[in-house]
Amino acid sequence: MPPDSDSPRPAPRFVDPYAHAPRLPDEGSLDLRAVFHGPRAPGPVELEIGPGRGWFTVERLELDPGAYVVGLEIKRKWATIVDERLKKRGLGGRGRVFAEDARLIVPRLVQESLARVYLHFPDPWWKKRHQKRLVLGAPLLDGLVRALAPEGEFFVQTDVLERAERYESEIDAHGGFRPVQATARIEDHSYGARSPRERIAIRDGIPVYRLLYQKR
Ligand SMILES: C[S@@+](CC[C@H](N)C(=O)[O-])C[C@H]1O[C@@H](n2cnc3c(N)ncnc32)[C@H](O)[C@@H]1O
Repeated sequence: MPPDSDSPRPAPRFVDPYAHAPRLPDEGSLDLRAVFHGPRAPGPVELEIGPGRGWFTVERLELDPGAYVVGLEIKRKWATIVDERLKKRGLGGRGRVFAEDARLIVPRLVQESLARVYLHFPDPWWKKRHQKRLVLGAPLLDGLVRALAPEGEFFVQTDVLERAERYESEIDAHGGFRPVQATARIEDHSYGARSPRERIAIRDGIPVYRLLYQKR
C-alpha cells in the first residue's frame, strides 16, 4: 500500500547499537578471576581502567600468554568494540572489556584478586565543573589497595605534568601504596604493550610522566 502522505511520520526511534555492551552484575562483590573459564583457573588478574580503543590490552595479551586482563571502560562503544576484537583475535579466554564505570566496580572487587592495575592517560577533563568525573580519587584508591594481591602493582601514566604531580601526591597521601623505587617516577615501563595515547605521545615526542607503586 502506498504511504499515506497526510499521516504524520513516526519519529525515528533511536536504537543504541551498543545496548548489548558486555556488563558485569549490578550488585554484590565481584571476582574478576571468575570472568575467565578454562582448563586453567587464572591467578590474580590484571585490570586496565579506561582502555579506550584498547590496544594496550590486546598487545599485553599477545606478548604474555600467561596474562589475564580485564578492562573497565565507561564508553559502551569502545567496551563493545574492544571486547569483540579480543574474541576475534582468539584472546577472549584471557581478556575481556566491560562497559562499566571503574569508580563503581573497583570498590566491589574481592580482596587480593588483582595482580596489577593500569591507568593510562586518565581524566581528560580540565574544567572545574567536570572535576566530578575524575576517576582517580580516595574511593578508587581504597578499593585498589583492598583488591590488589600483596605486592601487586599500580601503574599510572599521563602526558600532563600537573596531573602527574596531583596523582603522585594523592597516592602518596593515601598511604596504601609505596613507590617501587626510591621515587614513584619511572622513565619507562617494561610491559611491552603501549596504550593508544602513549603511542601518539611517543610518536610526537611529548613527555610522558609515569608512576609505579606497589601495594604496601
Ligand atoms: C584519555 S582516554 C585514554 C584511553 C587509553 N587509556 C589510552 O591511553 O589511550 C581516557 C579513557 O578513560 C575512560 N574513562 C573515563 N572515566 C572512566 C571511568 N570512570 N571508568 C572507566 N573508564 C573511564 C574514557 O572513556 C576513555 O576511554
